[in-house]
Amino acid sequence: MGIQTAEFISSPVPLGTAAPVFQKTFSSSKKVKRAVLELSALGVYEAALNGRRIGQFVLAPGWTSYRKRLQYQTYDVTELIRQDNTLTVGVGNGWCVGRLAWNGHSHFWSDETALIASLTLEYTDGSHEEIRTDSSWLSAPGAVLFSELYDGETYDARIQPSDWKPVKIFPFSKDVLIPQEGEEIREIEELKPVELIHTPKGETVIDFGENIAGYVRFKVKGNAGEAAELSHAEVLDKNGNFYTENLRSAKQKIRYICAGGEEIYQPHYTFQGFRYIRLDQWPGEVNLEDFTAVVICSDMKRTGFFECSNEKVNQLYRNVIRSQKGNFIDVPTDCPQRDERLGWTGDAQVFIQTATYNYDVRRFFRKWLHDLKADQFADGRVPYVIPAVLETDDSAADSGIKDDGEKNSSGWADAAVICPWQLYLAYGDKSFLAEQFESMKAHVDWIRQSGDNEFLWNTGFHFGDWLAIDCEEGERVGPTDVGLIATAYYAYSTSLFVKAGKVLGSDMTEYEELYKKIRREFNHQYVKGGKLTSDTQTAYVVALSFDLVDGPEAFAERLAQLLRENGNKLKTGFIGTAYLMTVLSKYGYDDIAYSLLLQEEFPSWLFSVNQGATTIWEHWDSLRPDGSMWSTSMNSFNHYSYGAVAAWMYSVMGGINPVESAPGYRHVLLRPVADPRIQFVNTSLETRYGIIKSSWKRNADGKVTYRFTVPEGSTATIVLGGKEEEADPGEYVYTL
Ligand code: BGC
Repeated sequence: MGIQTAEFISSPVPLGTAAPVFQKTFSSSKKVKRAVLELSALGVYEAALNGRRIGQFVLAPGWTSYRKRLQYQTYDVTELIRQDNTLTVGVGNGWCVGRLAWNGHSHFWSDETALIASLTLEYTDGSHEEIRTDSSWLSAPGAVLFSELYDGETYDARIQPSDWKPVKIFPFSKDVLIPQEGEEIREIEELKPVELIHTPKGETVIDFGENIAGYVRFKVKGNAGEAAELSHAEVLDKNGNFYTENLRSAKQKIRYICAGGEEIYQPHYTFQGFRYIRLDQWPGEVNLEDFTAVVICSDMKRTGFFECSNEKVNQLYRNVIRSQKGNFIDVPTDCPQRDERLGWTGDAQVFIQTATYNYDVRRFFRKWLHDLKADQFADGRVPYVIPAVLETDDSAADSGIKDDGEKNSSGWADAAVICPWQLYLAYGDKSFLAEQFESMKAHVDWIRQSGDNEFLWNTGFHFGDWLAIDCEEGERVGPTDVGLIATAYYAYSTSLFVKAGKVLGSDMTEYEELYKKIRREFNHQYVKGGKLTSDTQTAYVVALSFDLVDGPEAFAERLAQLLRENGNKLKTGFIGTAYLMTVLSKYGYDDIAYSLLLQEEFPSWLFSVNQGATTIWEHWDSLRPDGSMWSTSMNSFNHYSYGAVAAWMYSVMGGINPVESAPGYRHVLLRPVADPRIQFVNTSLETRYGIIKSSWKRNADGKVTYRFTVPEGSTATIVLGGKEEEADPGEYVYTL
């Protein structure tokens, strides 16, 4: 019974002509008690029973490393069953068959789209019947003439599938089928246009006010054969014209051919990253109420909230949330708009702590980490992106990109260890560690045999402090020694692996010893005369964050000095920024951390807010005050990495921190740090023990009143004014 007994079927419709529609008609002779459909596809599907859409999963079955893991979904369709039934499923290219990455490759996991389904009918008399995909199904070209995730969709509403032909059985292993693991991608919000703009170039542009990932639903009235055509963009250029250069080769174009009459359309197998649309063709008059931007995202529960007295900081926080939504579309991606949108491990690693505060990301990351484990090379290296499309292994040999033996960068590959550990801390669930333990070990073991000596990671390619401000002109890798960063990450990953092993009750002596030696070697190689050999902000951040130096106070003071000398401005990139604020607070430099947060001059978080950002940018000056842009090719306006600052907002401004010995907030450390430049902070976090609240407010007399809620089932340590207090569930108020 079930999907395992069905066959994958593919369509006789040639690939590249139209997205196929599959169909099966059947009658149920007896009264149906329950009807359950199991369904999956190579590609992305939309299913309907008797003309009614099944489920709400957008771009189902989501994105996994399909040759190893293919999710199927289960829908209760009892309500939709009639006596005579038609089950229809359209399948678009999606991630599995469509184009991915910037190098023109497609068909990463399959050369054709295919479908697999089984519908179990349970009759009231106790008997069962099963409708499965097999050679009796029919297929015809559908109205979707073209659809690619990056490039958009062409839809001809005049087409009704009619030329039905028998399907082919498609050879694909059923062993890889797994029940849905992640969250479903759903439509989660709708936005109405805020402005109709006529640009200097004469373009008709609609502004939705926020940079999002999703698509536009529109109502159009045209004669049969007339077309509506929309382009999508994140920003306008310095003259106020529609700007698409940063999308690189991604076309993000929707073309709809009218059937005549009033029609409503939204794309089926694609999504766009955008704030603006340009109407390249539009039949009749433009009415703003005919356009709705639909936000899509993995359907995660929001758990964290933050606000403070500074409206610009609040805008920054909202931008972090928006960038998480825009990039948590089944896989944690770098960006949702250009010809990339990939599961970059480094980005996920630096952002995961923030992600766990904002949303319940357990299912989301569990699924992705399973893909990471599945795509990890046999020798332990972790691909740059998961699902792996930038390199090959045995099962993806046809992607044409050769494994050059180097696809493994520090700070990126370490996601294999850091992500499960952060999930364990935030949710207290050991299974994250147990499930990933072998993958963590393989990562550490690979590094161990790859360096010049066992205790250094100083060979191979590394992204280093990617996109750092202190990069040489035209460079993308910052000046901090990549060997220093890599060895620091090697030590960090090993230390977390040791902790994970201990939680699971394993004997970790060997790796404890290894850790000590890596730390010693780090000091030997990278500490000279009480300073780090790279005297950069990022070098101090990693050394301090990962506890690698003795007498850390002097190193922290050097970091503080570097920041002060630079006018309280950061110089960091992806690696340094992630832990910069937390390191400053760890060593008592909260005032400098606040200064960095409140800094409005370039480079800073609020610089982007002042520039009108509604999401986190890839680069500190993605858009400059004079309207110019730092780059055309590496310039995403929806890139969450630098949003890692929100973890500091929750943990230092709000003071809510998980505790390693009682993770998942069974015990919580409440340690807010107030600053005279902020009048109040309110934070809350929903945990499995209830809602933790922490807030503070500056009174007229200059004193600060702190309020905490410790939920039932949790206990807390409250740290204020240098004093510590143990707290049971309840409400607490202090003024000092
Ligand atoms: C991505 C990043 C990623 C980086 C690797 C870029 O193209 O957008 O976010 O981490 O490459 O350095």
